Amino acid sequence: MENENKDVIIELIDVNKKFDDSYAVENFNLTVKKGQFVTFLGPSGCGKTTTLRMIAGFEIPTSGKILLNGQDIAQLPPYLRPVNTVFQRYALFPHLDVYDNIAFGLKMKRVEKVVKDRHGRDKIKKVKLSQKEIDEKVTRALKIVDLEQFESRNVTTLSGGQQQRVAIARAIVNEPQILLLDEPLGALDLKMRKEMQVELKNMHRKLGITFIYVTHDQEEALTMSDMIVVMKDGQIQQIGKPEDIYNEPANAYVADFIGESNIYVGSMYGDKKVRFLGKVFDCVDDFPLHEKVDVVIRPEDFKITKPEDGMVKGKITDCIFKGIHYQYTIMVGKNEVLVQSTKETPVGIEVGLSVKPDLIHIMKRNISSNVYEGYINKNNDLCFAEATWECDVTSLIKDSHIDEEGYLVDKGNKRYDLTDAEVTVEVDMNDIEISDNLEEGNITGEIIEMVYVGDHYRLIVRTEEEDDFAVDTEWTWNENDIVSVKIPKEKIHMTLKGELSKYEI
Ligand SMILES: Nc1ncnc2c1ncn2[C@@H]1O[C@H](COP(=O)(O)OP(=O)(O)OP(=O)(O)O)[C@@H](O)[C@H]1O
Ligand SMILES: [Mg+2]
Repeated sequence: MENENKDVIIELIDVNKKFDDSYAVENFNLTVKKGQFVTFLGPSGCGKTTTLRMIAGFEIPTSGKILLNGQDIAQLPPYLRPVNTVFQRYALFPHLDVYDNIAFGLKMKRVEKVVKDRHGRDKIKKVKLSQKEIDEKVTRALKIVDLEQFESRNVTTLSGGQQQRVAIARAIVNEPQILLLDEPLGALDLKMRKEMQVELKNMHRKLGITFIYVTHDQEEALTMSDMIVVMKDGQIQQIGKPEDIYNEPANAYVADFIGESNIYVGSMYGDKKVRFLGKVFDCVDDFPLHEKVDVVIRPEDFKITKPEDGMVKGKITDCIFKGIHYQYTIMVGKNEVLVQSTKETPVGIEVGLSVKPDLIHIMKRNISSNVYEGYINKNNDLCFAEATWECDVTSLIKDSHIDEEGYLVDKGNKRYDLTDAEVTVEVDMNDIEISDNLEEGNITGEIIEMVYVGDHYRLIVRTEEEDDFAVDTEWTWNENDIVSVKIPKEKIHMTLKGELSKYEI
């Protein structure tokens, strides 16, 4: 046994999955306990299905291990794994009725039974299930999915929700240890989805087995799961209980993905003090002085006060009634603050806002600037991210200038040929300009992520070669927009790798 912990059913250790040249799943580490309801949550393409397929055995990891009950199951084919999958598009057999759809797998199944041989000795034999055994199992599955009255109905006459229940019954009838569900409610309308969420939760309770569930719907994940795995770009962003993910998001991405949030760029102002919205607030997190941080505050955690009683002042610009509370948009200087409150306050008036220190969540910024590996070409241009950029190479050597042959000359008159010199390039997020005129910049890319941070957007532009540019911008863009990236040459910070003397001529 590689794993001694009896409570653990499945463990993914350093699992990677590469398709062609790119990783669909990267450094995936997860431990699932018996009977847990675990949800993989993340946007389209983040690797949820791929991870599920590796657990099911339809896909083999490029590297890493998957342990089931402590045993490595890498070599175990899907049909030998005690795992069943329910897919988004339930493939029921249209020519069979509900009963036969569910019984289908059982009829094929051979189970080991102890029988007596001619000499009266015990012998293990593979036998088919009896009709009675099949009957009992199907009836039990039908009961769990609440379709007892439907056993002889043709599946084509069922509603989407009922068909999905047949698909679930068909998976649980095999009594798997783990049920994998890949967006099983994706094809249902909202009302049916909500009902099925409750039913799935009940089924989980009745069955007592482990559920691994995939969704891109954060609300669904929060209401159903014991544990949520938030994923992005094949990587785990955070693993935790729903309330931890909601209350203590690990980074601005998770905060933005899980529910509505106010996210601001702040900076540390001393011992447990942080500055944002133009004011210094007490907080409970410790970060180095002056460090730039992301500050996250949930809309329900701000309190609206009289202007003179608040920590900051703002003006209500919008109010929407959301059924159980009002949601206010309050402008504090240039920053937008979303606040939920059950009290009605008129739009247009000035108010104060306060927030308790422990409700101010401070997190390390994922990307504070853009760092790349690059080199200088023979024309003294900079090459990185598969593009060529005009730059000021004299910034690499103090007090230098370029002579007429293109060599750098320092103040002691030493000459340097920087052709092919390797450099580390750094560009601040504020210094990148993006444009929808694709001719304008040095390289084009797609906006793959956009987070609103108080008074501006932070977005990630990913090039075809998968280089990322994090950009702070006040302009509104859309995810999936194709844009060009431009950086003024004085804003490109370069440092030479290795010794300068290497380049002396
Ligand atoms: N067989 C394959 N060959 C090449 N690339 C693949 C293959 N399967 C998945 N991918 C890629 O791996 C990445 C992750 O895909 P995956 O289907 O796991 O995402 P997902 O999170 O399930 O997305 P969705 O919510 O859209 O179902 C995607 O970029 C996808 O294009
Ligand atoms: Mg998928």
